[in-house]
Amino acid sequence: MRMNNAMISHSPKSGVDAGEVLQHLPAMAQEVLHWLEPRPGSLLVDCTLGGGGHAELLLEKIAPAGRLVGIDRDPASVAHAAARLSRFGDSFSPLRGDYREIRDQLDHLGIGQVDAILADLGVSSLQLLDPQRGFGFAADGPLDMRFDPSSGETAAGLLERLDEKELARLLRRHGEQPQAGAIARAIKRAMERGPVTRTTQLAGIVASAVRWASRPGRSGRSLGRRPRRSRTHPATRTFMALRIAVNDELSGLDRFIEDAATCLRTGGRLCVISFHSLEDRIVKQTFRSLASRCVCPPGLPVCGCGRSNLLRVLTPRSVTPSPAETEGNPRARSARLRAAERL
Ligand SMILES: C[S@@+](CC[C@H](N)C(=O)[O-])C[C@H]1O[C@@H](n2cnc3c(N)ncnc32)[C@H](O)[C@@H]1O
Repeated sequence: MRMNNAMISHSPKSGVDAGEVLQHLPAMAQEVLHWLEPRPGSLLVDCTLGGGGHAELLLEKIAPAGRLVGIDRDPASVAHAAARLSRFGDSFSPLRGDYREIRDQLDHLGIGQVDAILADLGVSSLQLLDPQRGFGFAADGPLDMRFDPSSGETAAGLLERLDEKELARLLRRHGEQPQAGAIARAIKRAMERGPVTRTTQLAGIVASAVRWASRPGRSGRSLGRRPRRSRTHPATRTFMALRIAVNDELSGLDRFIEDAATCLRTGGRLCVISFHSLEDRIVKQTFRSLASRCVCPPGLPVCGCGRSNLLRVLTPRSVTPSPAETEGNPRARSARLRAAERL
């Protein structure tokens, strides 16, 4: 299991208030530029605008003749990116929405097909580091975790709704959490004493449960499954699992990839960066299936089966960040990039 940690970039400007300079460092930026091949005049979609890091690099390549449509579910991220990228004028179209509705969104803008599409999945450092969003636990905040704070169930609501077994299953599946049972039990016990609604409260409960489950028994052996040695906080997997569930991040990813492929012109590029092994598996399998739909015998000049392939996979194996990047940006160490070309 790969983890998704936050990284703060401090602006090179000196003497600026730290609050102004929190930035999300775009993961695998050079690789994104390589695979998407942005050129002056290109028409691009960044499906996960976040802090606007990738969008800025792409706009620098395509503006002023090109255009980038930037989509995010999170209104605060859209507002942040809109301010950051305002210098690109009409070349940048920020849009609040769900990338799983990419076709409708492009139709709405009167756009048919585009040259390249990027999806950089997961959570941004801007979100992780804002205590009021509830994604992280470095500072206390409400257990929210919704990308779109205007709709859906919060993480606190999810904890209320699930029973112990359901919670353990969720932590095992989305967090690949070895002590899922012990953590779910500890959370539910704590909830018998009062509501669990704060991030540091939940992190404390999880940390105690993990320590308890991995303490040595009388024989000197661990009573539960020992956590693998890790530099990450014991609650990180629990928070990631809850975030994925709250935002329903895995469902519809396969359909999004297919829709995105149909939004590309022939030769257009699609690039997906994932930070979770389940996500990466969906990306890999969907790319493969869209690249192998045709059942015509090899050598036919045109497809006759009516199931022509949509994509050519450009990265037979996922591309990982360079050691230099992960040293400067620990969040990137779990990134996996896959790219494909529209046929
Ligand atoms: C890893 S961040 C992107 C960071 C961005 N590439 C940058 O360089 O600043 C992922 C973003 O995707 C957004 N997001 C997650 N699921 C989404 C969805 N279904 N539709 C649109 N945006 C989504 C999150 O709100 C978050 O801002």
